[in-house]
Amino acid sequence: MAELKLNGVTKKFNGITALDSLELEVENGEFFVLLGPTGAGKTTTLRLIAGLEKADEGDIILGGDVINSLNPADRDVAMVFQYYTLYPHMTVKENLAFPLKSRRRNFSEAEIEEMVLKAAKTLKIESKLERKPTELSGGEMQRVGIGRAIVRNPRIFLMDEPLSNLDAKLRESMRSELARLHIDMGETFIYVTHDQVEAMTMADRIGVLNEGRLMQIGTPDQIYNKPANTFVATFVGSPQINLIEAEVEGNELNLRSLQQKISMNAAQNKVLKEKGITKILYGIRPEEISVVTAKGRNCCSGSVKFKQSMGAEDILNLNIGTGSMKAIVSPQLGIKEGDEVILNVEADRSHLFDLETGDAIR
Ligand SMILES: Nc1ncnc2c1ncn2[C@@H]1O[C@H](COP(=O)(O)OP(=O)(O)O)[C@@H](O)[C@H]1O
Ligand SMILES: [Mg+2]
Repeated sequence: MAELKLNGVTKKFNGITALDSLELEVENGEFFVLLGPTGAGKTTTLRLIAGLEKADEGDIILGGDVINSLNPADRDVAMVFQYYTLYPHMTVKENLAFPLKSRRRNFSEAEIEEMVLKAAKTLKIESKLERKPTELSGGEMQRVGIGRAIVRNPRIFLMDEPLSNLDAKLRESMRSELARLHIDMGETFIYVTHDQVEAMTMADRIGVLNEGRLMQIGTPDQIYNKPANTFVATFVGSPQINLIEAEVEGNELNLRSLQQKISMNAAQNKVLKEKGITKILYGIRPEEISVVTAKGRNCCSGSVKFKQSMGAEDILNLNIGTGSMKAIVSPQLGIKEGDEVILNVEADRSHLFDLETGDAIR
């Protein structure tokens, strides 16, 4: 049984639909990431689960029980917010103890002390317990925020972009710390982010949300390698996937803007013929394009308009025909701006999408 289930959950604000019949199942112990751009409905989803908003339609089911009408305090969920929500006049220790002090919990002072110390140890903030929030760095403050969630030992953790206010380096180390925390605790996490790298590196499964609708649910591998539509394909991956309009001509795709024809594999051929599709969007990720020395079957030739050196790799912005593509190549190739290059694209690594709907053709 899924730990958390959203059944056709719809939420409107002033008649405007923020979430549209959301269907979601999160397994016990899973690290589930909800990924999407600003305004997609990520925070709203978490607030509905936490009980800070009421759904207009649908059910929220936690551990088999419908919790729609429960108060936030009775839901046994803990939420970590994007902005630090520490009490400024309290020490770290007092901030951590605060969620345990509600009358309904009935913990003794000694129990609270023990739980606070355990959480502080887990998050490596034992030495900061007597400090006030103003005496902490951003990363330390967010640790305390996370600490306040874990001390309560809730049934499920909801995290709303908890790392987005940290600098890049700290964000990276906190990513692995949170992943470790999840493994150590073995609890269910629902983690919201607009950052595809966070989603790809931390998630067991990702739900991609756009304009209140789930675009795809899958493992990071599925999301990256089998995107369900052009939204998912372009949202995940940097630089983003190349998408080029193409016409089906026999066993080939005519990429008109590139003035190139490329061959398809047998499976692609078959599905396009079966469905009678003649116009598509052809997608190839920049890292799937390689520079070769001789023209083969799946090749385009083009010139390097400009190059972005990233250290470990070069991003080539290529002019091909009247169109353009991006490719990621090794700096060792020594390719320079203005160079003419021959490109190889493997049919097996390409993605075909319906020109009208943007849905993957499979
Ligand atoms: N309290 C509110 N009142 C009115 N509109 C809201 C409210 N909360 C969220 N929205 C709207 O709902 C949509 C989803 O918002 P949100 O869940 O905050 O998105 P995200 O967290 O993915 O950026 C947005 O269009 C937002 O403007
Ligand atoms: Mg948000």
